[in-house]
Amino acid sequence: MLSKKIEKILNDQIEKEGYSSNLYLAMASWAEKEGFAGISQWLYAQAEEERMHMLKFVSFINERGGHAVVPAFAKPPVKFEGIKKMFDQVLEHEQFITKSINEIVALAIKENDFAINNWIQWFVTEQMEEESNVQTIIDKLNLLGDKNFYIFDRDIMGLRTAE
Ligand code: FEO
Repeated sequence: MLSKKIEKILNDQIEKEGYSSNLYLAMASWAEKEGFAGISQWLYAQAEEERMHMLKFVSFINERGGHAVVPAFAKPPVKFEGIKKMFDQVLEHEQFITKSINEIVALAIKENDFAINNWIQWFVTEQMEEESNVQTIIDKLNLLGDKNFYIFDRDIMGLRTAE
């Protein structure tokens, strides 16, 4: 059985993962309209992954006797200020998500809920991978400077997102 506090923090994470999915979907759509097929493909895949993360929380809460509530999601931005800034925003957002996953770990330990702590470790690893993947992209963009997005756009097609 989940404590009320754990149920709430897990439900809060549904909103964060769902918003992440919508944010990356908005970025994918913007990048597609700007003509970046590879970047939008990467972002569409990322949006799918975040939806999968959200669903993991939904089923876990219900399986453990809680009630997963589907929240309202804030509207993500429509336009972005450029490819480099957009990926900086992705990294910043993932760091925010890592922080919230760490808060779940901290609460699980505080409440001696080792089952939750064990389950949430998958997300701890996932966040490390996601941050590292986005950092790799940012490093490539830094090498390119403000030009050559065409080559980068083709290059990113070969990069897989974290599972
Ligand atoms: Fe599900 Fe990228 O956080």
